[in-house]
Amino acid sequence: MLKEYNIALLGFGNVLRAFAALLERKQEDIVEDTGIRLKVVGVATNSKGIAINPEGIDLNAALALVDKNQSLTSLHVGEPITDAFEFIQKVPAVAILEATWLNPQTGQPATDFCRAALQANKHLITANKGPVAFAYRELKALADSKNLSFFYESTVMDGAPVHVLRREALLGLKVNRIRGILNSTTNSILTRLEEGIAFDVALKEMQDAGLAEADPTNDIEGWDAAVKINVLANIFMGVDLRPSDVDRTGITEVTVEAAQRAVQNGQRIKLVCEAIRTETDVRLSVKPTHLDLSDPLAHVSSTACAVSIDTDILPNVMVMAGPSSPTTTAYGLLIDTLNALRGRR
Ligand SMILES: NC(=O)c1ccc[n+]([C@@H]2O[C@H](COP(=O)([O-])OP(=O)(O)OC[C@H]3O[C@@H](n4cnc5c(N)ncnc54)[C@H](OP(=O)(O)O)[C@@H]3O)[C@@H](O)[C@H]2O)c1
Repeated sequence: MLKEYNIALLGFGNVLRAFAALLERKQEDIVEDTGIRLKVVGVATNSKGIAINPEGIDLNAALALVDKNQSLTSLHVGEPITDAFEFIQKVPAVAILEATWLNPQTGQPATDFCRAALQANKHLITANKGPVAFAYRELKALADSKNLSFFYESTVMDGAPVHVLRREALLGLKVNRIRGILNSTTNSILTRLEEGIAFDVALKEMQDAGLAEADPTNDIEGWDAAVKINVLANIFMGVDLRPSDVDRTGITEVTVEAAQRAVQNGQRIKLVCEAIRTETDVRLSVKPTHLDLSDPLAHVSSTACAVSIDTDILPNVMVMAGPSSPTTTAYGLLIDTLNALRGRR
């Protein structure tokens, strides 16, 4: 039997615009596979207005307005909404999809938005690493206390199935070690260095292709990778660490000469993220590492990413994916939403 659910988008940047386009494209396939139809009844931004319409937002119209740098408020029905918190309270949706901005040092403002969504009795789906790195335990406890879902598949390796493994496929196992290549910008730059392309040129290529931020600090100094390994450790290894606990070195000191010398020696330099369980705690690190070619992670090139999860029973379960895009991230939000609505917690 077909069931229709109202959902709301908090943010309408690269990821949630890709989500809107993906939903338009995939709605009928989703209905066929799950019997669920999704209706977007609200979209909120910081500077481009907020719109709520209980009958459904016309997503193509919303995309066209934002493309023309026009406000979404022309799609709004009712009293104007002043900010994201009022939006979370008033939008008549059962789930909030959060993809706003992240300060990697504080996890805000996204963590406050996530808490507010759960307090308003709405399932919470986020693409934002901040709330998971900074407030996983609190948000999970809040969601559990209200029998709501709190899902975050897109926070690591976009829509590739990583977090769902912990929830559905690795139950009862003890995770001893996680290794991964989790940042596609730095992995691409390292691949280009091997090809003899200078660091600055490789970085500019990524920026021109829209794959690296104008301010690349977060990526090249290893912060993005640090937050991701922190998220994986907190969830897969049951710890409560913070990005500042990661022993972090970025790739700014890696040269063409070093990358090519590694290749001549039968190795590759990769920005390896690692979480290792010791007798007393879990140690987190992100650093450029020489990998032998016998290591599967050595073969993860360009914009691909991969993670290997070593457990007490299943050794080195590996997921590899790429290249990533806002659409692959949007798919993670979509599958999380469907799983929440199918009663997964
Ligand atoms: N891009 C990717 O492929 C990718 C992959 C994985 C995870 N993520 C994560 O997903 C999140 C979103 O990424 P993105 O690339 O879509 O970012 P983005 O293009 O910068 O979009 C962010 C959106 O959030 C809105 N926003 C920011 N502060 C807000 C506030 N206080 N109230 C309401 N709305 C607010 C912005 O409003 P305005 O439109 O007014 O600026 C914008 O619509 C980030 O946390 C990112 O780390 C992104």
